[in-house]
Amino acid sequence: MKFSACKPDAMPPGLRALFYGVFCWLNRNIIVLRGMGALLRLWPSLGGLFGLAARARAVTGVLTRPRSFSNTAHAPNLVAGDYLIAMDPGPTYDSDRALLEQRLACLNVQVDADGETQRRIPQLKQLGGKSFDLIEDYLMWIAFHAISPVFGTAANSVAVGAGGSVTDIGLQRQYLLEIRYVAGQLLAGSSSTLRVQRRAELCADSLSARIADVSGQIQNAWGVSNSKVIERNAVGLAWISHPVTVQSGALVVQELLSRPEVYRTLRSRAANIGAPRVWQDNSFRECVRNHVLELMRFRPIFPLLARAVPRDTEFETGGRRNAQCPGGGQVAIWSIAALFDPRAVSDSRRFCPHRDWPDEDLRWLMFGYGDRRCPAREYAVDILTSALIGLLTMPELRLARDDGKAIIYDGPLMSRMRVRFVQ
Ligand code: HEM
Repeated sequence: MKFSACKPDAMPPGLRALFYGVFCWLNRNIIVLRGMGALLRLWPSLGGLFGLAARARAVTGVLTRPRSFSNTAHAPNLVAGDYLIAMDPGPTYDSDRALLEQRLACLNVQVDADGETQRRIPQLKQLGGKSFDLIEDYLMWIAFHAISPVFGTAANSVAVGAGGSVTDIGLQRQYLLEIRYVAGQLLAGSSSTLRVQRRAELCADSLSARIADVSGQIQNAWGVSNSKVIERNAVGLAWISHPVTVQSGALVVQELLSRPEVYRTLRSRAANIGAPRVWQDNSFRECVRNHVLELMRFRPIFPLLARAVPRDTEFETGGRRNAQCPGGGQVAIWSIAALFDPRAVSDSRRFCPHRDWPDEDLRWLMFGYGDRRCPAREYAVDILTSALIGLLTMPELRLARDDGKAIIYDGPLMSRMRVRFVQ
């Protein structure tokens, strides 16, 4: 059986719900996926029989052969229409990618993320020991203010609609929820239940209508006149950028809170530098950035990636036998296993933000690898670095279990993370 043979669409609803439940549980309990990844690394030929790549060399080998292992595996999960991430290389891919890079170059992520963080921190300080939602009251807004300038002068209209008021937080929140559910479908894939898929489709329709409404403004802002190009890229950029960054931020903080020693050391270094210098200290920023990358290694938002196999091929598993991949199937890439492969990462199980990486690109595997890796990776890490520096200037943060669970999930994603500062 190949990974591809496991088609949730062909399952009866009960089995499908069970499959989705297991998928979500594994994503929330990443340590189990890591354990499974370790077994696959140990018996790579066995994993290869099921189309699973786990050793670092197998994973990077597959990810650097985009014509044999195609990104079109993402296509069924793009509820808002085709976008870059699910395209094969070609003229449309090249021009969309060039447009994206042009838009990214307009961002001033560090300034915008630092600015919004410094605006939020005093508000959170006023809460004293009261709990708040790290996602809805903090991370969501930092990512929003850092990323939304990709829409240039049309940014406000995209977020609140052509006739909405830019100060209407409710409208902005509505937009951010909408794109979260569209992005969630990329993560959960076709395993998600029909109810979840339906919600994602409704949000996708609403996102498309929102973009169509302000298409003229985006055309002016981007200097692009083709409305199809605008529609595809503006819709795609809206959902692909923000939700994943926010979730990664929540995962980073969750991992940091589970490492009190690391957290304490970082906080005391921030306290020694003191505000406002902590924002200008480049070596501290570099240190926090290294921590963000290492925290993401332990909790990547994409622990697995899928690739479609257009024609018969094989890949080197690292074991005695290559994995045979029949055309028309799929393979699963266990990035989480590769990130902990002792053959490629020294002392791989240890939390070590300042490790020497012989392959620096492997360090960024949470963002993919090769030509198709995330073009916004540096920007995303910059945003998370600003958000983390802000938290490090505050009293100690703890998960707040006052009204039940501190972390509430919606499928594989966190929808709420209640925290409070210890007074
Ligand atoms: C922490 C935040 C982020 C993470 C963890 C992340 C992760 C990833 C990963 C793993 C891929 C590769 C998927 C694959 O190979 O199948 C990817 C691709 C992509 N990401 Fe990100 N991403 C993040 C933020 C962003 C942001 C902020 C943007 C846009 C502003 C963005 C835009 C894209 C695009 C357009 C692609 C497709 C690139 C291509 O196929 O050529 N990402 N991302």
